[in-house]
Amino acid sequence: MGSVLDAECTEPGTKVTVIFVLGGPGSGKGTQCANIVRHFGYTHLSAGDLLRAEIKSGSKNGTMIQSIIKEGKIVPSEVTVKLLQHAMQESENDKFLIDGFPRNEENRETFESVTGIAPNFVLFFDCPEDEMEKRLLSRNQGREDDNIETIKKRFKVYLESSLPVIAHYSSKGKLKKIDAAKPVDAVFEDVKAIFNSTSEKVASEEFQHLQDSTSS
Ligand code: ADP
Ligand code: C5P
Ligand code: MG
Repeated sequence: MGSVLDAECTEPGTKVTVIFVLGGPGSGKGTQCANIVRHFGYTHLSAGDLLRAEIKSGSKNGTMIQSIIKEGKIVPSEVTVKLLQHAMQESENDKFLIDGFPRNEENRETFESVTGIAPNFVLFFDCPEDEMEKRLLSRNQGREDDNIETIKKRFKVYLESSLPVIAHYSSKGKLKKIDAAKPVDAVFEDVKAIFNSTSEKVASEEFQHLQDSTSS
């Protein structure tokens, strides 16, 4: 079976749907992605999860990735894009939520040039830093980077490197900003409204296209 990322499939017009899910550390990206998967049938690809799996697998890059994560810095895009591309190729699905990526301009440019895919839209979970800090300190998943020292470094990287990417998508009219400080269920109500209105829009565009082609 042809992969969604075969050369011919990355040509414009290919029906691969990609939504980038951005927001600071602890803003609730993973939590909401799980909800979106259940309701809307997307495949969730978390760049952080893929990197952590790479460490666990004992790959040659494992030690390098581990020390970068511990420092709250960003792993070279070549590594992360390869992992994302591989995960997309392995999937039977054609709708992906890419969570925690692109984290900087280099991530964004590398993904675009390697895959030829642009996101349909970008979800941005906007949350105050003190709330994110509280959530990270009580996440309890045994993550080596959920300690106050690394958290402060991650916030700095987020402000310096990730916010410009978010601003980029805003300037392209692709950003859908959500108030992520609300309780989980309330945030998901806002997320649902975005997905429902977007699929309605796609459906109505397709309907319009059908009408146009039958009336000519
Ligand atoms: P991210 O993937 O953006 O780093 P997570 O989804 O892992 O964030 O959430 C970080 C922590 O905060 C988790 O322990 C999660 O259960 C909790 N959490 C997520 N969303 C909310 C919310 N809206 N209100 C309170 N806690 C939340
Ligand atoms: O998104 P998550 O919080 O799981 O990311 C954890 C860490 O993984 C980041 O702080 C960063 O060190 C690394 N990462 C990365 N590049 C990405 C996503 C995550 O280097 N695109
Ligand atoms: Mg996460």
